[in-house]
Amino acid sequence: MNDAKEEIKSRLAIEDVVGQYVELKRAGRNLKGHSPWGVDKTPSFMVSPEKGIWHDFSANKGGDIFSFVMEVEGISFKEAMEKLAAQAGVDLTKYRGGDPAVTRKKNRAREALALATKYYQACLVKNKAVGEYVFYKRNLHRATVQEFKIGYAPSSGKALLNVLVRRGFTIDELDTAGLLNRFKTDLFRDRMTVPFIDTTGSVIGFTARVTGKSEPKYLNTPETLLFNKSKFIFGLYQAKEFIRRSGYVVIVEGNMDVISSHQAGVKEAVATSGTAMTEQHLKALSRLTSDIRLAYDRDAAGVKATERAIMMAGDLGIDLTVISDYHGAKDPDELIQKDPKLWQEAVNHRIPAVDWLLSKYEEDLDLATAPGKRKYSDVALKLLSYIKDEIERASYEKKIAEKLGVELEILREKGKRLDEKLSFPTKKFLKKPQTEAKSDELKKLENSLLAVKIYGGVSKTQIPLEIPDDEVKLSELELIFNQEHEDLKGYDSEQEAGELLARYQEELKKQEIRALKQQLEGMPEDDPDYLSVLEKITNLQRQTSL
Ligand code: UTP
Ligand code: MN
Repeated sequence: MNDAKEEIKSRLAIEDVVGQYVELKRAGRNLKGHSPWGVDKTPSFMVSPEKGIWHDFSANKGGDIFSFVMEVEGISFKEAMEKLAAQAGVDLTKYRGGDPAVTRKKNRAREALALATKYYQACLVKNKAVGEYVFYKRNLHRATVQEFKIGYAPSSGKALLNVLVRRGFTIDELDTAGLLNRFKTDLFRDRMTVPFIDTTGSVIGFTARVTGKSEPKYLNTPETLLFNKSKFIFGLYQAKEFIRRSGYVVIVEGNMDVISSHQAGVKEAVATSGTAMTEQHLKALSRLTSDIRLAYDRDAAGVKATERAIMMAGDLGIDLTVISDYHGAKDPDELIQKDPKLWQEAVNHRIPAVDWLLSKYEEDLDLATAPGKRKYSDVALKLLSYIKDEIERASYEKKIAEKLGVELEILREKGKRLDEKLSFPTKKFLKKPQTEAKSDELKKLENSLLAVKIYGGVSKTQIPLEIPDDEVKLSELELIFNQEHEDLKGYDSEQEAGELLARYQEELKKQEIRALKQQLEGMPEDDPDYLSVLEKITNLQRQTSL
């Protein structure tokens, strides 16, 4: 894979690649232009043809041609690679085979999941009670059940396992597919199953609902080689064409809302299943349409989800609207059960998400009282801080000031005060402990650890690092894994993780020592803290091989 990357890089000039998106002007050895992401007044986007890199000083990101295309197009590393290979006239198939083991694993997982889907579908036909639930209680038509490949996972702990093992799958393969629990038996038992279908139509996991009252209501496939929940959009496979045609998408909260909505003829509905919406979700949808309509549940969680969406949309320059009238229902499914027509009409009545939230706040607070006004201004100003455009923000400020019966200036004063309060501690925090940027070694180890954590199937070794949300980073990590870890002979991911972890912890200590030494340098010897810093250094040095 790396060879292909180098080959493409050597054939394409970065200024030509970037030049397709950004107008560049020469500035000494470099080229300069306006940020493709942003709102820079003076050009803040730099390209170095010599080094083959770019850096955006307003958006604070940078990299090579691959990361540029990934970022600007919102696509994965693989997709960027394919796009640039085509431009460079490089035949990627020649370079493939760098990761046959992972490709094989993924293919086996897909096969297992496809069979599991068929098996669950067959089980639904045989189980009368569950059929009752699906067809009568949930009111799903046969065609809908077919289209969404709904099924039933039997209650015996090894039903699916036995079927798939008989078909030649190993326990490991089923585990990789996310079909087993930690005891290596069936994860889904006595539940209605709904497959997660990716945009190519292949099943990558399941969500499974109890048909009675037990907990948890839904059980989902964990993160696997195939299923990444911060990326996956439920229903997109079925909705894609309709979204393109109608020019809008409706985001609902529950997977069942998606299914009901399709059945009710609103086939533009999707959900971010089992997770809050991420930037990746929003970016992916905004590539299909700029008309994004939210239809979350009418409860506190729905308000929170809408707030979250607005925070991200502001950054991405996306306008969101909220479907305003559910006729008293709690979610789209409930409304559809009342009358599908009501839902068909509802999706056409929408208001800007900010207006919707402001009226929600107003409903919840008593604006006739002074404390009510204070609270309203707190939440409203926080919301406004996510609006990038000055004109849009000014218009809301005016509205809010009128609602509160105060001068615009007073509201703005408070807004400024809140802004300072919000940003000050983070600024302070960022400056202090990061006296020294992370060493290259530390960064490398961190990446390796994350790579084996995510792609190496490490389950025993506790790796104290958060899995990043960001697609660029994840692709980078996948690449790192393919490149440096998975093709080792007799690969033992737990052992590798253990070794990496030990080196990582050592490196952390070294880093701390360097930071303390730096601190010591700037300190007079009679400083009251001098000795304690010195002592810390000695202690740390004793624990490391330094
Ligand atoms: P809801 O409980 O609103 O889902 O949760 P729903 O689709 O409306 O459920 P029913 O079947 O009509 O009662 C919204 C989403 O949150 C996730 C699921 O993805 C669900 O679609 N969720 C909910 C879970 O992952 N686990 C749970 O236990 C509950
Ligand atoms: Mn719901």
